[in-house]
Amino acid sequence: MKNFKNRTVVINFKNNVNIAVTIGKPDKPLLVDGKNTNPFFNEAGYYLIEEIRIGKKLVHFFPLNRIYNIDFRLANWRFPSNCYVITDPPYNIGFKYNTYSDKLSPEEYCDLLKAAVEKRKSIVIHHPEETINILPRVTGTLCQEVATWVYNVNTPKQSRSITWWGCKPDFSKVGQEYKNPNDPRIKLRIAAGKKARIYDWWFIQLVKNVSKKMSGNPHKCTIPEEVIERIILTTTEVGDIIVDPFAGSGTVLKVAKKLGRKYLGFEIDRTYYRYMKSIGL
Ligand SMILES: C[S@@+](CC[C@H](N)C(=O)[O-])C[C@H]1O[C@@H](n2cnc3c(N)ncnc32)[C@H](O)[C@@H]1O
Repeated sequence: MKNFKNRTVVINFKNNVNIAVTIGKPDKPLLVDGKNTNPFFNEAGYYLIEEIRIGKKLVHFFPLNRIYNIDFRLANWRFPSNCYVITDPPYNIGFKYNTYSDKLSPEEYCDLLKAAVEKRKSIVIHHPEETINILPRVTGTLCQEVATWVYNVNTPKQSRSITWWGCKPDFSKVGQEYKNPNDPRIKLRIAAGKKARIYDWWFIQLVKNVSKKMSGNPHKCTIPEEVIERIILTTTEVGDIIVDPFAGSGTVLKVAKKLGRKYLGFEIDRTYYRYMKSIGL
């Protein structure tokens, strides 16, 4: 195996099809709780195949339905080209995460977001100001839809923007309770088992501050599952691939799994990673 490291081996077939296989970079497997978390290596520490080309076409190779305890930028060039990035990134507001420092320079912060979303179908949850100022510069594509997620809290920020880049949701795919259930026509619809469609204004409360001891979740800014459920149901189909480069406690991945989507998640912090493992991701 060693002889082949960083080498591309080309196999010629009779019908003039070349299959080129590139073997990965040298390093050690990253073991967490005795399990390999480094996508570049197998359990024994051997190099994994990094890419396969048939003729000139690159066939990506990345095990799906897994989470990785790494900086996603080590692997972003391998995200499947047809994936949907659904993410609630760090907001660069000095929030206290275990490992990650949430105080980057504006340039570093733009580069971080760019590495996650550039030229990908992406749905990003962020404050309205950053959504307007930063995302158009880093996505490399047009914004197709905006929804506003609102909640009641005693802080100056009571809403976030959810924006779709390079893809579009279909809000009619998700129902909600009618807001005027006493209207005679609406009463008839409710009796017939119908629901109202969702619109671009989502009132969904924040996840309550249940103590870490009670919930087992060490993450302090878990996103409500209902927000992610709406995004996934309105935007993707069963079997689609969803990537969250900033997985946190794994809400996007948990909901993706529940709804029959394939997923890939990355989280730089080991405690959050271990929590995700403990809930079956
Ligand atoms: C806003 S939180 C995500 C919370 C998540 N939506 C949830 O429901 O739990 C952002 C996460 O990104 C992680 N992070 C920051 N930079 C990262 C990087 N380069 N690679 C992987 N994870 C990173 C942080 O540790 C943090 O947990």
